[in-house]
Amino acid sequence: MKSNQINIPYKEIPRAEFSEEIKLLEQHAIEAARKAYAPYSHFLVGAAVLLQSGTIVTGSNQENAAYPSGLCAERTALFSAGALYPDDPVVALLIVAFSEGKRVDMITPCGACRQVLLEVSSRFNRSFQVIMSGEQRAIVLDDNKMLLPFAFDGSDLPKE
Ligand code: THU
Repeated sequence: MKSNQINIPYKEIPRAEFSEEIKLLEQHAIEAARKAYAPYSHFLVGAAVLLQSGTIVTGSNQENAAYPSGLCAERTALFSAGALYPDDPVVALLIVAFSEGKRVDMITPCGACRQVLLEVSSRFNRSFQVIMSGEQRAIVLDDNKMLLPFAFDGSDLPKE
């Protein structure tokens, strides 16, 4: 038997050290969270996707009375980016959330969103940054793939 370990590199950045890029993406994500449709969970999530061209595409969670029919903010933003700018690679994704009127310290993508993040990076053959932003700090992963160890992706499927 052999024991192995997977390490996940990430940075914790205090608000005072936020780059201009993070500040800009955060503003967009907060604005998006205000437009969330979350009458069931009352949990408002906003996502801002930065594309290589500099374009920013946002999304918020969109809920449904038939719960699984709703969609998370991350997928709303990424699918929107893919639909509007299919040839513009994703460079970064920043997410924020509000619960009971208060900013959530750290919002992290759900499992289904992680799988979609992976597909986006496979599509463009380029990993992107994931920024989970809270009031005091941001947790930053430079490689979205780190969110999904032992992932299943297109390379597992037959070519033809
Ligand atoms: N949600 C997101 O939009 N993103 C996440 O990363 C976690 C959860 C949404 C789904 C649902 O509308 C609400 O938050 C509560 O789960």
